Amino acid sequence: KTSCISVRNSVDNSEIYSQAVDLLNEGEVVAFPTETVYGLGAVATDDEAVKKIFAAKGRPSDNPLIVHIGSIEEVSYYIEEVPETAKLCMEKFWPGPLTIVMKAKKGILAPSVTAGLSTVGLRMPDHPVALNLLKELKKPVAAPSANKSGKPSPTKANHVEEDLQGRIPLILDGGTTGIGLESTVLDVTVTPPAILRPGGVTREMLENVIGEVLQPSLSELNQKETPKAPGMKYTHYAPNAPVFLIQQDRETVKKAIRQLQLDGEIVALIAPSKFEDLKANFFFSLGSNLIMEEIGAKLYDDLRACDKTNATIILATATSTDGVGAAIMNRLEKAAGQKWFQIHE
Ligand code: TXA
Ligand code: MG
Repeated sequence: KTSCISVRNSVDNSEIYSQAVDLLNEGEVVAFPTETVYGLGAVATDDEAVKKIFAAKGRPSDNPLIVHIGSIEEVSYYIEEVPETAKLCMEKFWPGPLTIVMKAKKGILAPSVTAGLSTVGLRMPDHPVALNLLKELKKPVAAPSANKSGKPSPTKANHVEEDLQGRIPLILDGGTTGIGLESTVLDVTVTPPAILRPGGVTREMLENVIGEVLQPSLSELNQKETPKAPGMKYTHYAPNAPVFLIQQDRETVKKAIRQLQLDGEIVALIAPSKFEDLKANFFFSLGSNLIMEEIGAKLYDDLRACDKTNATIILATATSTDGVGAAIMNRLEKAAGQKWFQIHE
């Protein structure tokens, strides 16, 4: 029931785009690639359509959606007053992996998009397929990541198929997404602005443009009575087997694997390639050079690959939290439910 159609840049895809546009205009949902992860989109002013997103994903209805737009000019349709910091960020980082949370105009976007909040997150994605779809549709598109709620976000069309086969009519296949981690979510309704979710646009990059930016840790965000980014309170990105973080230290990892295997566990290890010889039952390499951008691009595919093994436990080595490392550790912490593996002596 779900068609998955490849859209390549080199050929004329106008018929495929009109099929997607027609479906969206009819109140259906369509999955499409962005530069971060695949999104599951619906027209953001159509409440019935937006509700289908929540149903297809199994997403709790109190978790608001990001609204994707095709140009900076459109921002004023949806936002009461655009703060100066937001304007600077749009000029510098759009199109790109930055979602900006601002105060929404009342009564324009579908109520389900904002899940009852007075704010909305907007972003202009930097992907030819997403931009072309927005340009042809001429409407805002509400889109969370196109995974089943609780699964890692999809970085390939077949990840979307795995999760949503039979639940949505159309997937536009634009190949593997470049960044592989969801956009940075920046709240500019507070002073100084705060990063609610770290991503490809790093704190350092933002601070160069707008000055001080706060980056609360996961546990700080969770301590708030009403979580600032509602998505933070849910277990996310979790493979089937439990995930534990572990120090990126050869002896520690070696000991952990031996102990677990003696206890009868089947161990999957996600770590730099130099750890491949440590005799984990399954090994997923984060690459040899530890370039954060490369790790980010592969991480969700690795977590999904773990699900296809019979591993009973997954160990993931911690990375530095510099630059994009902050986003990687944030996702690993969420996947692990912030659990660290303890070696018993
Ligand atoms: O890269 C991305 O952002 C991808 C692609 C498809 O654009 N989308 C994505 O959406 O990751 P989603 O729904 O999986 O994550 C949106 C996050 C959630 O953590 C949500 O709680 C937060 O943004 N969020 C959305 N609107 C918000 C708002 N008004 N205030 C605070 N947090 C908000
Ligand atoms: Mg998501």
